[in-house]
Amino acid sequence: MKKVFFLLVTFMSVIPAMADEGMWLPALIGQRIGDMQAKGFRLTAEDVYSVNQASLKDAVVLFGGGCTGELVSNEGLLLTNHHCGYSYIQRHSSVEHDYLKDGFWAMNRGEELPNKGLTVSFLDHMDEVTELVLKGYEPGMTEAQRDSVVKVNSDRLVRESTDASKGLRADVEALFYGNQYYLFVFKVFRDVRLVGAPPSSIGKFGGDTDNWMWPRHTGDFSIFRVYADKDNNPADYSPDNVPYRPKKFFKISRAGVKEGDFTFVYGCPGSTQEYVLSDQVRYVAEQSDPAKIALRTQRLDIQKKYMSASQAVRIQYSSKNASVSNAWKKWQGEEKGIRRMHTVASKQDFERRFDEWAKGTRYEGITSELHDLYARRNPTYLAYEYYNETVRTIELLQFASGIQARLRAGNPTKDLVESFYKDYYQPIDEEIFVAMITSFGKNVPVESQPAWFREQLARYGSVQAWKDDLYGRSLFTDRAKVEALTPSDDISGDPALQLYAAFLDWYRKDIYPVIQETGAALRVANRTYMQGQMDFEPQRDFYPDANLTLRIAYGQVAGYEPYDGAYYHPVSTLKGIIEKDNPDIFDYNIPQTLRDIYARGGFENQPVCFLATNHTTGGNSGSPVINADGNLIGINFDRVWEGTMSDIAYDPEICRNISLDIRYLLFVVDQIGHASYLFDEMSFVD
Ligand code: ARG
Ligand code: ASP
Repeated sequence: MKKVFFLLVTFMSVIPAMADEGMWLPALIGQRIGDMQAKGFRLTAEDVYSVNQASLKDAVVLFGGGCTGELVSNEGLLLTNHHCGYSYIQRHSSVEHDYLKDGFWAMNRGEELPNKGLTVSFLDHMDEVTELVLKGYEPGMTEAQRDSVVKVNSDRLVRESTDASKGLRADVEALFYGNQYYLFVFKVFRDVRLVGAPPSSIGKFGGDTDNWMWPRHTGDFSIFRVYADKDNNPADYSPDNVPYRPKKFFKISRAGVKEGDFTFVYGCPGSTQEYVLSDQVRYVAEQSDPAKIALRTQRLDIQKKYMSASQAVRIQYSSKNASVSNAWKKWQGEEKGIRRMHTVASKQDFERRFDEWAKGTRYEGITSELHDLYARRNPTYLAYEYYNETVRTIELLQFASGIQARLRAGNPTKDLVESFYKDYYQPIDEEIFVAMITSFGKNVPVESQPAWFREQLARYGSVQAWKDDLYGRSLFTDRAKVEALTPSDDISGDPALQLYAAFLDWYRKDIYPVIQETGAALRVANRTYMQGQMDFEPQRDFYPDANLTLRIAYGQVAGYEPYDGAYYHPVSTLKGIIEKDNPDIFDYNIPQTLRDIYARGGFENQPVCFLATNHTTGGNSGSPVINADGNLIGINFDRVWEGTMSDIAYDPEICRNISLDIRYLLFVVDQIGHASYLFDEMSFVD
């Protein structure tokens, strides 16, 4: 008996506690710290977030407008992902020095490269301001009146907290669909310089083939430095600026990770919808995702066909192909995950219990109100999504409308013309035109299609004939003609512009008003339903949907079972890179130096990436991954595709975030970049 009890206890302490769902607000971390500590965290709530002393939050930034970064030295050194720094690295690249291809390493401060427009934002503090924001609001007011109360109060709070001379920027953000409001005050630095980036064959190793997948071997990091004026305050770029001295920076742990280790991701997740009605989940999984996936499959196939036939086309379309493929792959995991988890059925079950409880309360009828609103909105919304994924993906039409807008405004068109033709391959666009216009005609209910579109289809007899005529007559297929255009030329009769304009007109008259009107009603109803869910389950810990504000996700290093009979181990190594290495496959062609280093021996077990259960989403890219002692062990950059439904429903069995092991960064900086001088300013702990 005693033995059994002992076994049970040991067993329980080995089995990881799997409830790692949640993106928590740092200011409320006091409510989570007990659970975090029970799972192995050794710091206090004040260490994580404090307004009185330096805390971990002071070492985390919103990088640009949609990624996260972290400080790792007393001299402003910052780490983020390669894919987050990509556009800046690209802008510094040219044929003579192609930093995307070859990598970039500043060998001293003087070689660091400024980046116009790039900012990093440190959270100074956050406060709940619900009462202040709703001051003056009376029950019975219309939604428009409520909006204006919220706006006036928020504007005032923002004004009071903004101080441009100190680089302070403020935002009031609605959480829980507007049941709560928080004021966020940031310090925004505007002089951020590029320090280092690995070659893309390391930083983007695996490319789109491996994107959203495990086993993963991407060295997805880049290094920047934040600069400040002499008083350590934000300033525009100036050669006189000095490295920023942060209140806090992460120490780096080289001790490594193993299954079951506590992990903590501190970053800026962009958008989730965990509390929506089952109808919306069903719409995503059964209508929206499948429709968009099918359309993108066609586009990707067409692009790939031409890309594999020509090296020049491959280069022209690699970035376009990557962006089409990123969401395409994510949606496949999302759709499958929602089905696998039976999220629609479990939400319906929840809604039945909720409705029962709601009888006689102010929440009675709210789920059927939402149900009706979605029923009214979704057919139109689906037509809108078709429009976005078909007509609006035809490059010639987008370009034509861009040129027209420039001419109308009297602005120069030269850069647009330049960038468009550089990466334009007309046979791809023509084939996509036929495929997309055909799909729109087939899949959007006839009564929802623009009448003009039906007329054209009837007139031409086939989409092919329409395409031949449009590309044959449009002046936009001829660069010289586009270059010769002046603002006084009347180009509205061009067939590309006619098509564009007809659809835009349809969108404005038939689509937008429905989306706008139901959207406003849904906002109000979802606010009520959210509050209802919180009142219905007062014992449950709710976290607000992601909205690019700073959050904490904690969990542990863990593998998973992607399908029956298989188990994915949570750590990948350099050995796996060598296994994938293939000079004939672009995504897997590694630098020769890496092959040589490996061949010399000693690096077989060099860790590269690891999996954990942290609940993350887009925007968490670049986030610090922290161990039980608050030290840096990795940089988050992706999730496994089987778990991407975590934006709607988190499954602890299968939702995994993918991080770069910090030791691989150190290896690449040293062995590939020969920039180990950077280690002098970092602090290491083991
Ligand atoms: N899937 C990751 C994210 O959503 C990484 C995307 C960049 N990498 C790529 N191969 N396209 O941002
Ligand atoms: N790759 C995403 C990003 O760039 C992260 C994710 O979706 O998990 O933020």
